[in-house]
Amino acid sequence: MGKDSYHLNTKLLGLIGHPIKHTYSPFIHNVTFELKKLDYIYLPFDIPPSTLKTAVKGMVALGIKGFNVTIPHKENILQLMHNVSEEASIVGAINTVVNDLGKLSGFNTDVHGVYETLLPYKDEITGNEMCVVGAGGAARAVIYTLIRYFKPNIIFLINRTEQKAESLKNYFIEKMKFDNFKTRELFPPDLVDVFQNSKLIINATSVGMFPDSDDIITNLESSFNKDQIVLDLVYNPPQTQLLKLAASKGATILDGIKMLVYQAAKSFELWTGEQMPVEQLHKSLQLFIKN
Ligand code: ATR
Repeated sequence: MGKDSYHLNTKLLGLIGHPIKHTYSPFIHNVTFELKKLDYIYLPFDIPPSTLKTAVKGMVALGIKGFNVTIPHKENILQLMHNVSEEASIVGAINTVVNDLGKLSGFNTDVHGVYETLLPYKDEITGNEMCVVGAGGAARAVIYTLIRYFKPNIIFLINRTEQKAESLKNYFIEKMKFDNFKTRELFPPDLVDVFQNSKLIINATSVGMFPDSDDIITNLESSFNKDQIVLDLVYNPPQTQLLKLAASKGATILDGIKMLVYQAAKSFELWTGEQMPVEQLHKSLQLFIKN
């Protein structure tokens, strides 16, 4: 949409975070508005923590329809909401806010992103052993999704700092009454059997992300097999070293761009009531990132 097309009725959406360096959300949403001929614009706003409250007040005053929330505000924004969805409340983080005439509702559409990405493999995954690497905010959304929708037999919770995995385990035991966790330190030689026996492996750390694209959670190829599904939440580069290694052993691989587009699609739906053409956006984003 050209600049001239914006007019009195253009509806505003956005993203708040700090710093806002690498984000594909403006691309995803603005391309979709153009494809669907919707009169919206999506803008990034760099908001330091000290001005979060006033920024939110300002956005409401300007009549913003909604916004995404990223680091470092995902947790702190909770206290500024009038309503918090079940998944955002348990995950303890909000990535999408809907403004209904000053009444703010918070959601966590990362959960939807993970769910939709795994959905085609639901029968294979359900009831099996699963392995989550990471113990931060992304891992919390992943663990919630697995417990809520995929009935894990066991979740292996692996993290560089094992103590954080242990805390997360206790958190979910309390919040979701699920206690089939086993925690491990991220030390690849000790984890070959754990990975090998997992039907699903999810990397919910930032390991492998640009510019450290050579990094990988395990470079031991004996960790992978053809019956596995491996999801990497890292989306830049789209094909991480982890996905390449897993694919070389015949595993089914799912990239972080897919999950990114699905989470954006859910936010989009919450704001506009419309569906995002996810396949098309997945392809556009892959091309956009490559160039
Ligand atoms: P996010 O919200 O994206 O999950 P986060 O809460 O900062 O971000 O969590 C980052 C995760 O990536 C953590 O699990 C972190 O491990 P620690 O808990 O030990 O810090 C993990 N991580 C980041 N860099 C890593 C690295 N170089 N090696 C291993 N794990 C790493």
